[in-house]
Amino acid sequence: MRVALSLRARYTIWIVLILTGLVTSILFVVQRREVRMITEETKNRGVLTARFIANLNLRAMLLWDIETLQSNVEEQIDDNLVYIVFYDRFGRPLAGSRDIRGDRDIFENSRLSPDAGPDAMHVESGMFHVPGRSSRVLEIEIPIFAPESATRWGSVKTGHMLEDMHREVRNVSRILLGLGLAGLAVGLLASFLLGRRIARPIRNLVDGTQKIARGDFSHTIESDSRDEIGELARSFNGMTRDLLDMRERMAEANRKLVQAEKLASIGRLAATIAHEIRNPLTSVNLNIQKVGGSENLDEVEKEHIALCRDGIDQIEKFIREMLDFTRAADLNCDLFPVPQILESSRKILEGVFQKKNVRLDVKAAPDLPPVFVDADKIRQVLLNVLRNACEAVEPGGKVAVVMDTNASSGRPMARIRISDNGSGIPEKDWENIFEPFFTTKASGVGLGLAHARKIIAQHGGTIRVLKKQGKGSLFEIRLPCEEGR
Ligand SMILES: Nc1ncnc2c1ncn2[C@@H]1O[C@H](COP(=O)(O)OP(=O)(O)O)[C@@H](O)[C@H]1O
Ligand SMILES: [Mg+2]
Repeated sequence: MRVALSLRARYTIWIVLILTGLVTSILFVVQRREVRMITEETKNRGVLTARFIANLNLRAMLLWDIETLQSNVEEQIDDNLVYIVFYDRFGRPLAGSRDIRGDRDIFENSRLSPDAGPDAMHVESGMFHVPGRSSRVLEIEIPIFAPESATRWGSVKTGHMLEDMHREVRNVSRILLGLGLAGLAVGLLASFLLGRRIARPIRNLVDGTQKIARGDFSHTIESDSRDEIGELARSFNGMTRDLLDMRERMAEANRKLVQAEKLASIGRLAATIAHEIRNPLTSVNLNIQKVGGSENLDEVEKEHIALCRDGIDQIEKFIREMLDFTRAADLNCDLFPVPQILESSRKILEGVFQKKNVRLDVKAAPDLPPVFVDADKIRQVLLNVLRNACEAVEPGGKVAVVMDTNASSGRPMARIRISDNGSGIPEKDWENIFEPFFTTKASGVGLGLAHARKIIAQHGGTIRVLKKQGKGSLFEIRLPCEEGR
C-alpha cells in the first residue's frame, strides 16, 4: 500500500537525507586528513627521536663500547619510547632494552638491508607484548654512519608507543562527530522551521479549497505573502468570487426562467379560459338578468338570483385580471406628472373608499418632474396597490400617498410611497406577495401585485414593501424620471 506523505514530511525527509549525507561525507574526508596528518607527525617525531638517539650513542658505537651502549639504552627508554636496539653493520644485535630481549622477532632481526644508504629508513607499525603491557608501536630503524665516512657502522631500531597518537585521533574524531551532530541538529531545526513556513500557507490553501469545494464560496483564503503561494491564494479568491457571482447570476436567470415559464402557462390558461368560459358566461349572465327582471319572483328567489350574479361577477373579475396580466403589452409612453395619474386612480376608487369610510391622504412635493410612462399602465398599478390598501384596513382606516423624488446611483427617480394602517404583511411574505396567484383573501386572485411588478419593471422602476413604523404596510414605487425625453 502506498502511504500518502504530506508535502512537509517529504520535504523534511529529503532535507534530513541530504544533510546527513553531506555532513557524513564532509566528516569522513576531514577525519581522514586529520588521521593522516597525525600519523605523519608521529612518524616524523619518531624519526627525529631515532636520529637523536643514534647521535647520542655514536661515540659508544664507534668505540664498540657495548656496556655503555647497553646502559644508555636502559636510561633512554621511557613511557613513549618502549624499546631501543642497536645492530652492527651485519644486522646482529649489539645492545637492546631488556623488555624485548625475549621477543626474537623484534630484537634479533634488523629490518634494514646491508647496503642501505644514509637516508634509508624502515618504518612499520606492529604489536608489542611484554607481561602486563601490550600496545601498538611504531617501529623505526635508521642506519648509523660515522661522521664523514661512507661506511655504515650499524643501525638503531626504536619502538614508539602509538597510544598518544590514538588518543589524539580519538579526540579529533570526537570533536568532529560533535561538530557534525551540532551541524545536523542546526540544519534539522532550520529545515523544520522552513518546512513550517512553507507548509503552513499551503495548508491554509488546501483547507480553503476544501471549504470552497464543499460549496462555501464566501470563504476567502488569507494570505499576505507576495510569493507564488500568495499569488495562488489571490487568484483562487478571484476565482471563488467569480464562481459566487456566476452562481448568483445563474440563480437569478433560473428564477427568471421559472417566472417566464409560469407566466407563459398562465397566458395559455388565460386564453383557454377566455375562449371556453367567456361566451357561455355572457349568455348565462344575460339569461340570469332576464330572469331577475321578471315580476313573479318572490324574495327568496330574488336572493338566489343575486347570489348567482355575485358568482358570475367573481368569475368575470378573475378572467379580466388574468387577461390583463397576460396580455402582451406594448408601452405607449408619454410625459405625465405623477400626481395627475394618481388623481385619476383616486377618482376611480372614490366610491370604494367612501363605502368603507377609508380616508385617503395625498401629498406631493412641489417640484416633481414628469415621468415618461404609459399612464394607463401606471394607473393600473396604483389602482391595484390602493385597492389592496383599502381592503387591508378596517372601516374608518387611513391610507396615505406621498410623492417625491429621490436619486438612485445618480439617476433621479420619482418615488410614490403608499402606506396604510391595516393588517400589515409578515416580513417573510414581502417577496411572495409579488408572485402570481399568491393571495390571502378568500375571493382574491393574487395577480394584482404580480401585474404591478411586471408593469413597473417594464418602465425600468422598482416596487417593494418597506418596513413601516407602527401598524400596517408601506409600498414604495420608484420610476425613473428621465428629463429631456
Ligand atoms: N396593503 C396591504 N396590506 C396587507 N396585505 C396586503 C396589502 N397589499 C397586498 N397584501 C397581501 O398581498 C397579497 C397579494 O395581493 P394581490 O397580488 O393584489 O392579490 P389579491 O389582492 O388578489 O389577494 C394579498 O392577498 C395580501 O395578503
Ligand atoms: Mg389585489
